[in-house]
Amino acid sequence: MKRTNHIFRQIVLGTTMIASPFTALFAEEEKAIETVHTIAGIPSAYFYSIFGILLLIVISVILLVVSINKQIAPIIREINEKKGIKKRSWFEKLNETKSFDSESEASIDMGHDYDGIRELDNPTPPWWKWGFRLSMVFAVVYMWVYFVGKNAPLQLEELAIANAKAEKAKAEYLAKSGNQVDESNIPEITDKTQLAEGQSMFIQSCAACHLEDGGGMIGPNLTDNYWLHGNKLNDIFKTIKYGVPGTGMVAWKNNFSDKQIVEISNFVKSLHGTTPKTPKEHEGTLIND
Ligand code: HEC
Repeated sequence: MKRTNHIFRQIVLGTTMIASPFTALFAEEEKAIETVHTIAGIPSAYFYSIFGILLLIVISVILLVVSINKQIAPIIREINEKKGIKKRSWFEKLNETKSFDSESEASIDMGHDYDGIRELDNPTPPWWKWGFRLSMVFAVVYMWVYFVGKNAPLQLEELAIANAKAEKAKAEYLAKSGNQVDESNIPEITDKTQLAEGQSMFIQSCAACHLEDGGGMIGPNLTDNYWLHGNKLNDIFKTIKYGVPGTGMVAWKNNFSDKQIVEISNFVKSLHGTTPKTPKEHEGTLIND
């Protein structure tokens, strides 16, 4: 009894193990239904069923045509034989060539023989002629659409539209991410060009008080280990953005975007430990790190 119980347990365990991938599959399917995949605006399940039915119809029509063809082919052959029409291959039909055997070839030989290659007077293939006609129709439609009706943009206009779109997307992106900085986590910049940008802004707006090399004058020395408002990137960013009220250090938030202030902050940070020409005496508390 105990033994049969054990076997029974094994069987149950085994089936659940086999079934588990399927349950996972079904779970996936349920998830898929939640998001509803669509193809050409139709839920994909419907799309595939319609597509499948259409495919079936097409296949049956082809089979039907083939079987009808098989039935009537001998009759047509008989008629052609009576009329003396020779059977042509599909390639000859497609090209409407008049040369399908040595006899007919001789009748259209132009008499020009180039190293065994003879010139025959075959007509221009119909597919080529139709291609030519269609290209003329296409040209007229193209002219009408692009130059008369102006219904579609020309290449340069298309480029301008794409550029404008990209410009807009870029502006939106910058407004969203580029200029909005998480002030509790100012990113460290190692990119030389960005640091150089920070430097040029520093020279233009800050050097008057801090000197170009950060040695300090009206404003404190930015190269030493003494800080009034903290030496972390976050601290420096805040000092620059919001300023120190009541001192010469004004808030720069209206002059620079957050992204620019990040660059300036990183440049200020990079000044630390350098030796300025005329260093101002220490101000603030010593921070050694
Ligand atoms: C008009 C003069 C002046 C200008 C221009 C100026 N600062 Fe200052 N800056 C000061 C003064 C003064 C202080 C000290 C404020 C205080 O007493 O707390 C200061 C403080 C600072 C501090 C804090 C230093 C510390 O020890 O914590 C930083 C960083 C700083 N400035 C960066 C800048 C940057 C970057 C610019 C340019 C965007 C700039 N400053 C422009 C005068 C100026």
